[in-house]
Order: sequence, then C-alpha cells, then structure tokens
Amino acid sequence: MEKLNIAGGDPLRGTVHISGAKNSAVALIPATILADSPVTIEGLPHISDIDTLRDLLEEIGGKVTFEKGEMVVNPVSMISMPLPNGKVKKLRASYYLMGAMLGRFKQAVIGLPGGCHLGPRPIDQHIKGFEALGAEVTNEQGAIYLRAEKLVGARIYLDVVSVGATINIMLAAVLAEGKTVIENAAKEPEIIDVATLLASMGAKIKGAGTDVIRIEGVESLHGCKHSIIPDRIEAGTFLIAGAAMGDEVVLDNVIPTHLESITAKLREMGFTIETSNDQMLIVGRNEGLKPVDIKTLVYPGFPTDLQQPMTALLTKAKGTSVVTDTIYSARFKHIDELRRMGANMKVEGRSAIITGQTQLQGAKVKASDLRAGACLVVAGLMADGVTEITGLEHIDRGYSLLEKKLEGLGATIWREKLNDQEIEELQNS
Ligand code: EPU
Repeated sequence: MEKLNIAGGDPLRGTVHISGAKNSAVALIPATILADSPVTIEGLPHISDIDTLRDLLEEIGGKVTFEKGEMVVNPVSMISMPLPNGKVKKLRASYYLMGAMLGRFKQAVIGLPGGCHLGPRPIDQHIKGFEALGAEVTNEQGAIYLRAEKLVGARIYLDVVSVGATINIMLAAVLAEGKTVIENAAKEPEIIDVATLLASMGAKIKGAGTDVIRIEGVESLHGCKHSIIPDRIEAGTFLIAGAAMGDEVVLDNVIPTHLESITAKLREMGFTIETSNDQMLIVGRNEGLKPVDIKTLVYPGFPTDLQQPMTALLTKAKGTSVVTDTIYSARFKHIDELRRMGANMKVEGRSAIITGQTQLQGAKVKASDLRAGACLVVAGLMADGVTEITGLEHIDRGYSLLEKKLEGLGATIWREKLNDQEIEELQNS
C-alpha cells in the first residue's frame, strides 16, 4: 500500500498533456467484442481500469496488445464465457460487457459492477433496454444472466438520463435485427465517441450527442482504427488545479467545447481562461475570488465528476458557495477530509455549503473514491505543509500519470510505501 505526499504551495506553470478519456475508454474496449476482425484504439490513458478490461478481454479468449497507449484487440477467438466474479467487480464499467457480449453471443453472465461508492447506482435502465431488445434478464446470486434467442430492434424510452444505459443499449442494438430508437438518451461526448467507433466498425447509428439515437442493425461489424477523445474530466481537474495554484498552465489536447460549463464557473469566480483549437490556458492564483453556486446536471450541464475537486478550490473564494449534486445522492465523502485540512464546509442533504476564505493545512486524508482523490490532490497543492493521501487505488483507476504530470508543472509530489503502523491505522479507519 502506498500514499501520495504533496508539499503544498508551489506555483504551477507549464504545459500538461491531457490523456484519452477514461469514460470513453471503458466503453470502447468492450465494444471491440462486437467486431469480426482486429480493432485498434489509440490514445488510451495509463490507468488501472484499462488494465482490468484488458485482462477481462483476454479471459474470454481475446488477443490483446497494449503499447504506448495503443490497444489492438483481436476478438475472433472470443467465447461467451461467464464472468460472474473476479475482475468484473473491480470497475463499474464492466457493465458494458453485458451489452457487448449480449450483442455478439446473444448471452452473457456478468457480475454486478463495482466501482466508486456514490450512493445507490442501479442499472435498471440498462436492463429495461436489453429486455426491450428481446433478452431475458435475471439476477442470480449477484450476477446478471442475459439470454436471447435473437435480438430485435425496439423503441426504448429511458426513464433516467443515463450514460451507461445509453451506451449499453447501443452496444446490444448494433447487431440486432431491425431498428432501435433510444429516446431521452444521454448526450455526453463519450457517447458520440463510442458511436463513432461503432460506425467505423460498420454500424448504422445516427443521433449520438442528441437525445434520440437511431440504430439500424447490421449482420456483422468489422475491425477499424479509432482515436479516442481527450478526457474532459482530467482536463477539468487540471483547470481547477491551475486555477488554484497556476501562474500560467496550458492544457494540451483538449476539446474546449466539452469544458464550457466548468470554464463558465471558473470565469465567474474571477479566473482568466483562453482557448484555442485544442489548447486552453488558465491564469490562476487570483485574490478576491467570488463564491459561486454549482448544480451538477447531465451534459452539457456541470459534470458531477468535477464537483468534488471544485469544492477544494471554493475554499479560496470570499463568501459562501453551494454545490448541489443532482446526479448522485452521496458524493460528499471528501467534505470530511477537507474539513480535516481546515476547510469551513458542511453537507446539507444533496448540497455542500462552503464558506471561504480559508487557508488549507496539510493533513493525513483518505480518498474514498476517484474524484474525491482528485479533490484531495487539488487541496494538497493548495495547503500549507505536507498532505498525505491514502486510497490511491481509486486515483489510479482514473488519472493517467497524475503525479508525473503535476511534477512537470512544478508541484512537489511523491509516492511512498505505507509503514506497518500506517497500514494498521488505515485498516481501522
Ligand atoms: N441511474 C439509474 N438507473 C440506471 C442507470 C443510472 O437510476 O439504470 C441513475 C444513477 O444512479 C445516477 C444517474 O442515473 O444517479 C446517472 O447515472 P449514469 O448511468 O449516467 O452514470 P454511469 O453511466 O454509471 C457515468 C460515468 C460516471 C459519471 C456518470 C454521470 C462511466 C464509466 N462512468 O456513470 O463517472 O459520474 O456517468 O456523468 O462512464 C467517474 O468518472 O468518476 C464517474 C463516476
């Protein structure tokens, strides 16, 4: 077990390269199961979720190579092997194996997904979609069993706007007979990215990025080469870090339109942001920052995945900010950790109320989930003294080369093995 140490207070300056999008990658990789020849995906991030998915594809018989961010998957010899336990439990996105394996094999057994604990995270809309396409779906001892004689296109209205359900139904529908229409679909850029890959594989799919997606099933899908989109949440995290501690930080490999909700809020606080084609520059470390209220919403609203790092930054604003998460009911475990660092904040229902201005102090803190980890890293960069962060397995699931990138910008940050006493303390906490 390791901890991440940050000696706070260093100004950040320079250019940081943004990696491929984690939440695209975890869907693009299962999508390769649907092809009948090798698929290449380039620009993948170096994160443990990708390693886990690679292992899972190999477990079902796929041949996978992964070098310098480029993954080649040969799905030809894959078989419909049940995956009720083991690595599927490590990540939430293993649910995409359901749609992809159902699409290709017309059957699948996949353990209920793991991932970050952010309150209840049902998958009823995914199941509603699979059933509408003709699958019989049962939950037996913690695994989802999916079986279909054949899949037939259907009109599916999502009762909840869900990224996962939208993508999963797309994966199952591209090889179904006839037309599928997904209404009230999610519109996240990652959905467009997956649709782009599927179209390059030969799928007939229209409307991704709007709330109605139309699919006409085809008989087979072939291999292709696909370049992943940049990670807008990683980019947003670096914008927030740049706002907190940056003299001038340039983000390279970004799509600025994917980040409009976050740049709007940072500008409202008083930060200067400039954008060009695929770069953004932020000038941070301002005085006299204004508090802002934030409500997380489905895309293009403010992303829930950036709510947590934002709460650290808001400790610098003069006055009270309210951050409300309408997507998850329990994504505020980081607030207690920030309070340990001296923040003046509290949780009321689905809102965090942050009263600034406070100077954070280094402390021993624990990341309870991926973006809570990102929040604590931002807080550590801002704090006086050393912050020691545990729970790194969460951060490593989703941030590619995080400390290398921050070190490149001038942060003092290093990993260290936990000693026996620290391991015991952690286990008892
Ligand atoms: N929901 C349902 N039923 C469903 C599906 C979702 O009630 O069948 C609810 C969820 O409980 C949640 C809301 O709908 O309250 C939105 O969930 P969604 O399905 O959109 O989320 P997801 O697909 O499970 C993805 C990202 C999350 C991100 C959300 C929202 C991946 C692998 N995960 O999750 O990313 O927070 O969309 O944008 O794409 C992260 O990166 O840290 C992360 C948690």
